Amino acid sequence: MYEYRNGRLLMDGVSLSEIATRHGTPCYVYSRADIESTWRSYDAAFGARAHHVHYAVKANANLAVLQVLARLGSGFDIVSAGELARVLAARGVPSGIVFSGVGKTVADIEAALAADIGTFNIESAAELERLNGVAGRLGCRARIAVRVNPDVDAKTHPYISTGLDENKFGVPMAEALEVYRTAVQRPHLDVVGIACHIGSQLTTLAPFADALTRVMVLVGRLADAGIPLMHVDAGGGLGIRYRDETPPPIADYVGTLCRVIPPAYAIHIEPGRSVVAAAGVLITTVEYLKRTPKRQFAIVDAAMNDLLRPALYAAWHDVQMLEEPPPEVTEARYDLVGPVCESGDFLANDRALRLAPGARLALMCAGAYGHVMASNYNARPRPPEVMVDAGVAHLVRARESIPALYAGETLLPDAP
Ligand code: LLP
Repeated sequence: MYEYRNGRLLMDGVSLSEIATRHGTPCYVYSRADIESTWRSYDAAFGARAHHVHYAVKANANLAVLQVLARLGSGFDIVSAGELARVLAARGVPSGIVFSGVGKTVADIEAALAADIGTFNIESAAELERLNGVAGRLGCRARIAVRVNPDVDAKTHPYISTGLDENKFGVPMAEALEVYRTAVQRPHLDVVGIACHIGSQLTTLAPFADALTRVMVLVGRLADAGIPLMHVDAGGGLGIRYRDETPPPIADYVGTLCRVIPPAYAIHIEPGRSVVAAAGVLITTVEYLKRTPKRQFAIVDAAMNDLLRPALYAAWHDVQMLEEPPPEVTEARYDLVGPVCESGDFLANDRALRLAPGARLALMCAGAYGHVMASNYNARPRPPEVMVDAGVAHLVRARESIPALYAGETLLPDAP
């Protein structure tokens, strides 16, 4: 997917330098081919097993990304009415949508019922009552799964670990049976499945197997109680290699799910990061090189507002040069920092690079949790997004304009 030809870094045969020149930097660039092939790996790994892949929209919600996946027949995991609208705008099929999240508002629920989405993953007894009430008022029924919290340690960054009993997510295992008993009595709910999601960027299979083993014990108890389920939603969470991690291959991950979940149940999954992370880069230009007594900084035109992961999770993204530097440029160790007024505004630390002002770089594996987490901090417009498709670079989101940043704001009336 990436290769250097004549000193230039190409994505699927298209020069990232040319994209940088045409669309400016900072800019996100995605590979349609890579997104497709990863999604297909998930789909194919299930073989004849009944399954449904719901791409987790939160990882990258660009309409063209969603469109590519919708065309493959992907379902979608959403967490807000905003993500629902995006999926529908990208021609995603409503019946393939699962609605996750601990804080669904009445407006979220109304929008999802109006669209007749596939399943609501319920995260509390209170949400169950709210959903039943709204469905009753709208004269419809909602299909539900209860997201349980299996209390396993996903051994990932604490901010993205979700399956411990100290986390806000899911219904505790001990209470789940009771929540299901209530659900089957509610006139506007149809119980169809069970869900769990224990965290993100998991690099071993054991936590998945542990969590699902616990979930299957509960599924057995539910069957005994006369509450049969049709599917088990294993969530997302399979990690990728940012640096030296060795996550299991998709086929092994799916193999584990197929082993732990008996064939009587359809398997649903909600992968986000693993579908899009490696398919995307954030390209940026070096504005200044600056030496202080202790460090050498490369001040680039991308910042924490464009790619928050390093600042928020101390995440590591590889840095590649878009063009091979001239021979006279020597190597030094640089901290790559942005123009934002915070010392936490770094994109990469202590990297050996041959840099000169004007050099253009790619932050690798930025396709997931990149643009979606971008903000306008320091009144910085969010970067454009480009999709490389069959040798052509398509602008799929324009760079935000400065007037758009305050278009919804108003001045107070003039003082008398
Ligand atoms: N399903 C549910 C219910 C989730 O909460 C998530 C992610 C996923 C699926 C998708 O998980 P994935 O396959 O992407 O690991 N911003 C963080 C990641 C937050 C993940 C939140 N939930 C980061 O940049 O690392």
